[in-house]
Amino acid sequence: MNAKHVILIVVGIIVLMQVIRIDTVNPEAIPEKDFLNITQAPPEIAQILTTSCYDCHSHHTLYPWYAQIAPASWFLKKHINEGRKNLNFSTWADYTADKQISKKEDIIEELEEQEMPLKSYTLIHSDAKLTDDSRQALIGWFRELEE
Ligand code: HEC
Repeated sequence: MNAKHVILIVVGIIVLMQVIRIDTVNPEAIPEKDFLNITQAPPEIAQILTTSCYDCHSHHTLYPWYAQIAPASWFLKKHINEGRKNLNFSTWADYTADKQISKKEDIIEELEEQEMPLKSYTLIHSDAKLTDDSRQALIGWFRELEE
């Protein structure tokens, strides 16, 4: 097998991978169930959350062009599925009061530890990176909701 064959096989595998598509249709977003709507979040808070968290934690995911290209598409979809499973701002009203409290605590913790948004995401979406000010603003808002 020479180099040409290897290249052909690799290209063939990449082409075949494209057959496995991901679903980029967002589940229905019901405004009455949405966190920002329910809490009447101020516009600046809504702006930060939508830009930095809603792609993975809501039904308002904006899929970039490479969402169509495997294997990037698979990683992206996995993050969105896991993100929504752990925390979904679009179905906030479905959480019990206790669950909402614990989610708010989780959010404050993730923000304080700078675990969210995921690094792999902010590498590409630099606008989603939280500044110290925007992080503090979010923490302040979630604390306020706790009271
Ligand atoms: C690129 C996708 C992505 C973005 C953007 C993102 N997250 Fe996440 N988030 C995840 C994934 C995946 C998990 C589950 C795995 C983990 O904990 O790492 C998660 C988990 C969480 C959890 C843990 C929930 C639990 O039950 O413990 C919280 C809280 C959270 N994210 C908050 C946020 C906040 C707040 C933002 C915005 C500042 C954000 N995330 C942005 C993908 C994302």
